[in-house]
Amino acid sequence: MSDEPVRIGFVGCGRQASASWYPNFATLPELDLRACCDLQASLAERNARFFGAKRWYTNLADMLEKEDLEAAMVVGPPDMHFACGKQVLAAGLPLMMEKPPARLTAHARELADMAEARGLITQIGHNMRHAPGVRKFRALMATPAFGKLLFLESRYFMPSPMWSERADCREGWQYMIFQATHAVDLARFLAGEITRVYADLSVGQSGRFAIACTAHFDSGATGVITLAGCTPNWTCKIEATGDARAHLRLVNLHTLDFEPHSPEGGYQPSPGIPSQSYSPAVRDNAEKRGGYWGQMQAFARAVRKGEADSPTLRDACQAMGVCEAICNSIERKAAVDVEHA
Ligand SMILES: NC(=O)c1ccc[n+]([C@@H]2O[C@H](COP(=O)([O-])OP(=O)(O)OC[C@H]3O[C@@H](n4cnc5c(N)ncnc54)[C@H](O)[C@@H]3O)[C@@H](O)[C@H]2O)c1
Repeated sequence: MSDEPVRIGFVGCGRQASASWYPNFATLPELDLRACCDLQASLAERNARFFGAKRWYTNLADMLEKEDLEAAMVVGPPDMHFACGKQVLAAGLPLMMEKPPARLTAHARELADMAEARGLITQIGHNMRHAPGVRKFRALMATPAFGKLLFLESRYFMPSPMWSERADCREGWQYMIFQATHAVDLARFLAGEITRVYADLSVGQSGRFAIACTAHFDSGATGVITLAGCTPNWTCKIEATGDARAHLRLVNLHTLDFEPHSPEGGYQPSPGIPSQSYSPAVRDNAEKRGGYWGQMQAFARAVRKGEADSPTLRDACQAMGVCEAICNSIERKAAVDVEHA
């Protein structure tokens, strides 16, 4: 396996790309930012200057033709992901994109089919999978002290969105693919495939809303996905219980508590299994804590090894499928089975 950094072409120089993705190149020796591209020349030139790309472009086809790239990253709106993702895959390159991979689930599946038919590695920016706190949570879930998963809650509260913001998609869909998909992806990552959902929506006069959704996992575990677009701040919480009578909780990706069962009862930790808490190191910046840094490193390593990390495009399709099922359940006021992507 080569130790050389993976030669990357980056498409999109907008807000999220410039705030959460580009800054990581400086501290990821596994990646070499060869070129960046944006329809707006001023942004492409700016990001090349700020983040050290050797060249910049305003046309993706030009960049793909002129640069000797090993992989591409695409960050922008969902329709751009679909269009640019297709171009990158058609050029035979591994692809990493922000979530959602497309506005429509059918388009996301088209991309996944295309990548799989060509044997190309893909990864989608469900960044929280790569957050150190989530990794630790998952590792603790796999210990005998936790036991078999019985229950998982994945909670995602946001201040800004309204339930129905756009006319060109089904009610709530914009929110589901931009925000709810984080909670859904995390639930799938930690507890396995979701097979059935039952969701209840409450909407205020202003369009602010909350959703409580029960989820059944193929492992037999039960859980809830709790969503809100009405809180003062972003809040993300995951909580799980295991049949070894353990309790795990991670708040805002940085405060993790693990309470194993104590034979003495009460809140005393049992001997040899101290309760654990995790908080980030002082130098652990938001990109690292949120998993943006880790997901880019994982993609670089996957490209070098020739073996995909996660979530793949197919995973992202499945998360969109769960989002569809949640919308269907809200509309039908009934439990709905989740289709396999
Ligand atoms: N993972 C997270 O937590 C998180 C948080 C915020 C946003 N996001 C995601 O980020 C995405 C938005 O990214 P952004 O804020 O950087 O977008 P943006 O709208 O600020 O910028 C998009 C850029 O892409 C350029 N562009 C559009 N089409 C192009 C093309 N064909 N070729 C080259 N450039 C093109 C535009 O000129 C623009 O500068 C959304 O999909 C959203 O879901 C994710």
